[in-house]
Amino acid sequence: MGWETPYKPYRIKVVEPITVPERSARTKLIERAGYNVFNLHAQDIYVDLLTDSGTGAMSQDQWAALMRGDESYAGSRSFARFEAAVKDIFGFRHILPTHQGRAAENVLFSSIIKPGDIVPNNMHFDTTRANILANGGEPVDLVIDDAYDPQKPHPFKGNMDTAKLEALIANVGRDRIPLIMMTITNNSGGGQPVSLANLHAVSEIAHHHNIPFFIDACRYAENTYFIHTREKGYSGVSPLDIAREIFSLADGMTMSAKKDGITNIGGILAGNDDDIFARARERLILMEGFPTYGGLAGRDLEAIAVGLYEALDPAYLADRIEQTRYLGDGMKAAGVPIVEPIGGHAVYIDMKRLVPDFPQRLFPGLAFVVALYVEAAVRGVEVGSVMFAHTDESGTEVYPKLELVRLAIPRRTYTRTHLDAVIAGAATVAQQKDNLPGYRIVDGEGPLRHFTARFAPIER
Ligand code: F0G
Repeated sequence: MGWETPYKPYRIKVVEPITVPERSARTKLIERAGYNVFNLHAQDIYVDLLTDSGTGAMSQDQWAALMRGDESYAGSRSFARFEAAVKDIFGFRHILPTHQGRAAENVLFSSIIKPGDIVPNNMHFDTTRANILANGGEPVDLVIDDAYDPQKPHPFKGNMDTAKLEALIANVGRDRIPLIMMTITNNSGGGQPVSLANLHAVSEIAHHHNIPFFIDACRYAENTYFIHTREKGYSGVSPLDIAREIFSLADGMTMSAKKDGITNIGGILAGNDDDIFARARERLILMEGFPTYGGLAGRDLEAIAVGLYEALDPAYLADRIEQTRYLGDGMKAAGVPIVEPIGGHAVYIDMKRLVPDFPQRLFPGLAFVVALYVEAAVRGVEVGSVMFAHTDESGTEVYPKLELVRLAIPRRTYTRTHLDAVIAGAATVAQQKDNLPGYRIVDGEGPLRHFTARFAPIER
């Protein structure tokens, strides 16, 4: 067995029991939750596809590594092992642990952004965007236009449009751009990968203008698999070597280890610039902790050091990407329209194609998420108007281009039996699409309303 033949490269040694509440109970539970799945209790969920972040299963080697955790406040052996792994894979000089990805973002941005600055990215994830705004900067998305067409087949739909990047630099000037970022894979755009050719091109532009180039590396290992299988010249190159080529192009990275570190907690900020990292180290001590633990226990650092390599194992990656494809293909076969090509960590249901006449102001994605919970005890998440609609300066409500429902797959956690239940549930909801109610917000308006708001069904 090897790279070309997907197979399950592990078996189950420890199990976590799940029970499923009756359908009538689920109707009451979701009502009590204000029709917001963030308010549900995990014990009331069968298959939880809310996120792939921190929800994966650790390996026996990771659990064994936890026992080696050295909890010294400063200079622990666990930090040395963490640092060695991060250096080996990513190659950066300065390596700071953080408690999760958004903390790495805040430490970085508060070290290099000044008010009025602009930060381009292919597409910022919510926390990246929010941390740039909170530090006085303006996030700008420069992904290729194809990313906004859910049907367009493109092998690297997460690519940045380099013409847009050149135009932005010419327009605002290099001095207002403290860094250029690339998110691999592009979570906000459907978990789509970025090609090495595009990373080379963006890196060249950044360095031509003397602008630091940083990578949001949350799902970098999944991105290496897409490069390996789709990009000319890389079918014989290992994921580890592809990763080394990617990061040799960059000046630094932020990462949530809860994704391709396959841990339940942790983050990384790394880079080469002495001045930036002198400031970042001070910010880290204020915000997270001493630079050899950065808000984590020694045992967490150990689990990350092991998990980073496991996520680059070709057999693991083949199984991981195959599982996502299985869910996506099943959805399509059951008549549920999805974003294509199928991405790395999640399947995204395309609500505009499923219910074209459902007004965005009545939250079609939320309607699907609620119905999927009632139907199958499956938890997905709305990535549409609840999350992104906002009022502009003139008082007009602005709705997002894409109206999606995300089903994110935790790593090494669910079997095909679980995914078949998701497919069957989604198929039933899709068949009953004309009966889905609309929703209105009754409480909890605000920028983080997708976490906090309560809703009530209304006729549409
Ligand atoms: N960048 C990307 C691309 C992400 O997907 C996330 C988290 C973060 C940064 C922040 O990392 O959660 O460790 O602070 N994404 C999760 C998700 C929450 O569900 O997609 P964090």
